[in-house]
Amino acid sequence: MIVTLNESRVAVTENLVRRVFPWQNPLERMFYWAWRRRGQSSVRLLLRLVGISAIDDTWIYLNDAGKVCGTIGLYARTEDAAEARWVSWFCVDPETRGQGIGKSLLDHLIEVVRSRGYRYLRLYTGSDPDEAAAQLLYESRGLRETRRKPFLFVPYDKIWRELELDAEVVSERTDGESKQGLNP
Ligand SMILES: CC(C)(COP(=O)(O)OP(=O)(O)OC[C@H]1O[C@@H](n2cnc3c(N)ncnc32)[C@H](O)[C@@H]1OP(=O)(O)O)[C@@H](O)C(=O)NCCC(=O)NCCS
Repeated sequence: MIVTLNESRVAVTENLVRRVFPWQNPLERMFYWAWRRRGQSSVRLLLRLVGISAIDDTWIYLNDAGKVCGTIGLYARTEDAAEARWVSWFCVDPETRGQGIGKSLLDHLIEVVRSRGYRYLRLYTGSDPDEAAAQLLYESRGLRETRRKPFLFVPYDKIWRELELDAEVVSERTDGESKQGLNP
């Protein structure tokens, strides 16, 4: 079952993300700190200074026992906030991979971005072999590579991907609808 993340499960979700991505850079490590405080104007200002105009929803996948097995989220960057949303932390617990959880989280996210009227879903990822399964999943969902460049301190590339969403849906968007529920 996919549900929107709230305060009650943010710590366990953060732990999952830290376990899957132990090498987060200092800014990436701040994500859940900022998520918890995203309604505060000082935090919004701080986020804008690093090019983020909003932290939107995050979703988690709960198994029958209520355990968080995976997560995915959305945020907005200042340079393209009017037309795009970006994928924030996306991962599945190593113990529950290969069961379709990643696919359902990504499909859910694509539908949300489509229904909110944005033209593009964008993300950055890496050529690290630990993220190889994600590349296959992204390709299968039409998230095509748009750019790549070497990371500074690790022997992998940073890869940008993008999915252009249905133009018909985008044309139905009104400004009021597109902003609903997005900014905290
Ligand atoms: C990417 C990830 C979220 C996929 O989660 P998952 O629940 O295991 O994925 P699913 O079971 O839904 O499978 C989705 C697709 O991933 C790929 N995949 C899954 N397991 C794989 C494996 N062991 N080897 C290669 N590809 C694999 C396949 O393309 C699969 O589609 P298919 O079943 O139609 O072949 C998970 O592997 C993960 O957390 N990886 C580490 C974190 C990461 O890379 N996040 C993205 C960084 S930007």
